[in-house]
Amino acid sequence: MSDSGDSAPIDEVPPRTMISRVTKPGAHGSQSGWPEHPISAIIAGTGSHVPERVLTNADLEKMVDTSDQWITERTGMKERHISTDGEAASDIALIACQKALAEAGVKPEELDLIIVGTVTGDMPFPSTACVLQQRLGAPQATAFDISAGCTGFIYALSVARQFIITGTCKTALVVGVELLSKITDWTDRSTCVLFGDGSGAAVLKADPKPNTGILASYLAADGTGGQYLYMPAGGSRHPASVETVQQRMHTCKMHGNAIFKVAVRSMASAFRHLLRQTNLEPDDVKLLIPHQANLRIIEATAKLLKFPPERVFINIAKYGNTSSATTIIALDEARKDGRVLPGDVVMLVAFGAGLTWGGVAIRF
Ligand SMILES: CC(C)(COP(=O)(O)OP(=O)(O)OC[C@H]1O[C@@H](n2cnc3c(N)ncnc32)[C@H](O)[C@@H]1OP(=O)(O)O)[C@@H](O)C(=O)NCCC(=O)NCCS
Repeated sequence: MSDSGDSAPIDEVPPRTMISRVTKPGAHGSQSGWPEHPISAIIAGTGSHVPERVLTNADLEKMVDTSDQWITERTGMKERHISTDGEAASDIALIACQKALAEAGVKPEELDLIIVGTVTGDMPFPSTACVLQQRLGAPQATAFDISAGCTGFIYALSVARQFIITGTCKTALVVGVELLSKITDWTDRSTCVLFGDGSGAAVLKADPKPNTGILASYLAADGTGGQYLYMPAGGSRHPASVETVQQRMHTCKMHGNAIFKVAVRSMASAFRHLLRQTNLEPDDVKLLIPHQANLRIIEATAKLLKFPPERVFINIAKYGNTSSATTIIALDEARKDGRVLPGDVVMLVAFGAGLTWGGVAIRF
């Protein structure tokens, strides 16, 4: 689906990489040029949770040929949280969900919808959203997962927003959870230093007030970049076998340099799309929360956008790249740290496997 906003050239991303875009009208008010929605989707509560165990750069030095200096200089990461053998995505997500529901003052049985952005759910099926529906006690909720790599939470939030502003549901729980440690090749120094486990959740509610909550969303994908970040086995192409296990095909494969370049351009592109949709200026944005994949990617994106670094939220040193969970963990921390006040506009932007990228603009 496209709209008039999509006819504008994507300045930062070469057209070849933009094979599919979905931009939904989202800004309220006639100035934006987008249809006005009678219902807003507001964020009523957020929560986050990471596993207890901490893996430091010093620990990684003992596992592969790397150094604290290399990891710090090239990524900005100092430590990450890693789940135990018995811990699954729903175990980590459940706690984040309960925190978000408590803050929102919403009971699980009031939920109409649960969407989980993840590529490391408890198992291929049933969905982790269904597992959470049962564990939370939310029998009325429609539940499904979304696979969009590290953009998973942004995709899930955008889809939930559509359900709310169209009047299809009133209360939704949106989750980003990833246990990338479970699909990491711990002998591959080029990937194993990057990832961590974690989860975040947001409760969305319908609100009759215009021009509040999620003002706009922008989603994009480019399947030609799928080769840059993928897990070869475990699906119908290469079902699990002795060979797939021996060849480590159930672990994440990545072309870091190729991803790096796309990451900066795509997050900047998402940010600019959100500005266009909302008719806002960069100065109107209190906080930019980018996907936490690499400190250098974040800094390069802010530089490209000429966005003040002090208004860019960064917590990568503590968690590494928790994939679909990074932006919601960051949003939860920013809110709890008092960096987001009522009326503030926050923009979340991310990119990930697919390739996918996108963003949301939220007024609190
Ligand atoms: C992965 C990434 C950190 C690598 O940083 P880089 O500066 O591009 O480094 P390069 O890949 O060019 O490697 C430089 C050297 O460091 C080495 N190296 C790679 N990982 C290393 C590690 N953990 N420790 C020490 N050296 C390492 C490489 O082997 C290479 O050595 P060589 O020059 O002798 O061949 C960076 O490309 C990146 O962050 N890419 C994006 C990844 C991403 O965001 N993935 C998730 C998407 S959601």
